[in-house]
Amino acid sequence: MQVYLNGQYMEETQATVSIDDRGFLFADGVYEVVHIYRGRPFEWERHLARLHRSLAGINLTGVSDQELTEARDHLMSGVTAEEAALYIQVTRGTQRRSHAPPPAGTIAPTVLMWVRPVDPIRPELVQSGVAVITTADDRWAKVWIKTIGLLPNVLAKGKAMEAGAFDAVFVRDGMVTEATSANVFRVSDGVIQTAPVTNYILPGITREVVIELARGAGMTVIEQPFSADALYGADELFLTGTLTEVLPITRVDGRPVGSGSVGPVARELLHLLRRQAGIA
Ligand code: PDD
Repeated sequence: MQVYLNGQYMEETQATVSIDDRGFLFADGVYEVVHIYRGRPFEWERHLARLHRSLAGINLTGVSDQELTEARDHLMSGVTAEEAALYIQVTRGTQRRSHAPPPAGTIAPTVLMWVRPVDPIRPELVQSGVAVITTADDRWAKVWIKTIGLLPNVLAKGKAMEAGAFDAVFVRDGMVTEATSANVFRVSDGVIQTAPVTNYILPGITREVVIELARGAGMTVIEQPFSADALYGADELFLTGTLTEVLPITRVDGRPVGSGSVGPVARELLHLLRRQAGIA
């Protein structure tokens, strides 16, 4: 597989970064993941805009849209898979270890990009839905920055897997924020609900698109906080994310959600999303 690293294309086995890279030492960097459907990047502009917000959030400059777009096109041209993921990671660059960030513009950021085929979400997961557990949201207060510092997410995902579940849903002060790499929605009495955009969630592009699609189809969507208890009483629950798409949740902490099988709203929104992506 070809990767893009700091202005050059190379085989992944040739791509190396320094032991002094601030991404390696401090998780001092941000990232994006874009879903490529049949050679078309889904919602590229929104991903680019969010990447710039994340970069601004960590005071990092020096990454141009032209560089990212050219590398994207070059990497995509080598991939024939029906579906693929484009990964973009920007770290503050390489400098002898010091907490003090270098003054803006004094060292070049490390820019890494690759495109890899992805397997579409396994049909049996979409058919039967997935199980989640709830767990304390012990992340920092700038979750809106898509930082590569994902240790709390990794630990929560591991906890879910140990419990035989697919994912963990974070709960902060009794309220649901999101999952480890997806946003969370509930449906109750025909109303679709998700946590509002605050500094405690990552404002998902899929979340935004799904809200638009639902409203466009005449459904009611409210962006209001809901409690962990409201998960148990929901008619339907689902996750949204770039690679997760719309994934129904049918068990929370071992309890069935609604009827215990996948509901019509999640099914319909997955269909609308894939149609929007030009794949359904
Ligand atoms: N994760 N919340 C978190 C914490 C995430 O990491 C993600 C995405 C989302 C969904 O955002 P979007 O719809 O823009 O993908 C929500 C990516 C895919 C990842 O880490 O691989």
